[in-house]
Amino acid sequence: MGVQIAVLSGDGIGPEVTDAALHLLHALRQFYGFEFQTVAADIGGIAYDRHGTPLPSATVECCRQSDAILLGAVGGPKWDSLPGHLRPEAGLLGIRKALTVFANLRPIRVWNELLGASPLRERIVKNCDFIIVRELTGGLYFGEPKERRRDADGNVSVVDTLAYTEREIERIVRVAFDLAMRRKKHLTSVDKANVLESSRLWREVVQRVRHEYPEVLVEHLLVDSAAMQIIQRPGDFDVMVTENLFGDILSDEAAVITGSIGMLPSASLSAEGPGLYEPVHGSAPDIAGQGYANPLASFLSVAMMLEHSLQRPDLGRVVETAVAHAIESGARTRDLARGEEARLSTREMTRWVISYIEKGVHYAENTI
Ligand code: IPM
Ligand code: MG
Repeated sequence: MGVQIAVLSGDGIGPEVTDAALHLLHALRQFYGFEFQTVAADIGGIAYDRHGTPLPSATVECCRQSDAILLGAVGGPKWDSLPGHLRPEAGLLGIRKALTVFANLRPIRVWNELLGASPLRERIVKNCDFIIVRELTGGLYFGEPKERRRDADGNVSVVDTLAYTEREIERIVRVAFDLAMRRKKHLTSVDKANVLESSRLWREVVQRVRHEYPEVLVEHLLVDSAAMQIIQRPGDFDVMVTENLFGDILSDEAAVITGSIGMLPSASLSAEGPGLYEPVHGSAPDIAGQGYANPLASFLSVAMMLEHSLQRPDLGRVVETAVAHAIESGARTRDLARGEEARLSTREMTRWVISYIEKGVHYAENTI
């Protein structure tokens, strides 16, 4: 009966925003006849508490059997003292690796009505609309060896490894070029080629592949300079491709200049197999359980899921439009509100967006 969505709500505000996203999906069923079923599975700290591991094999199995995965967030102070392989984050990295979702798309978009929420001046952030393509299953996050050592004299040393194969670089670079072809045909590749061997190979691959995309304007930036230029001229970028750790850092930076990290969705895609969709904001333990987390990043992640994994780009646009209408009409959660503006709870924001999903149906009916 319809598609199957695995729901991994995780920790902190993860369950709150994911629950809101499920209400949104139910509204799509009610008003647009979208058929789906969901299966819930544990990941992160909650999985550790219940099963002694942040990624039970049943969760991986459940994801593999689904058409798409909706994830909330993982992590929290409760699990901070666990060894690395038992931490909630290990569950998230594990599921990304198990599903080989190597292409992480993070659209950085400014909503005009939220310009005032940006820490940057309006004229700088206005027109900012780019997408970060972050390599997600290689690099420093996964390279071996990755360990802590103690020599005979008791001295401690540590090692993390930044490893990439040429093939891993090429497949992510191709995703970025393909995306650029569907956008403004401008690709910025970010590396640290003045220091790192992995970055030198990265740059070589981009230079080789670009011959197949003669229409795409290619620019190479060193990551430190990219961090600066995202602040100086965010409106100039279109598609930005980079390795795992650089992408992690730059996407938080880019998110916050758009006003709130609470607005940023993401899609993680593999060559074949289900995609993984998650808001970029973390588990936000400081506000968890209070009912006022911003659910919009989760809603926009659902929109990406409808487009990339469920073959319903039309419904993806319905969700995006409803979110846009809600913002235009003044709906603000605490992270977005300024001054005297009313602060909506997660539930109120959800109802507000769903009201536009419903109105969208009436609008479509009236225009046929
Ligand atoms: C993200 C997060 C994760 C990452 C953490 C929670 C492991 O920061 O998705 O950006 O570093 O990839
Ligand atoms: Mg991050």
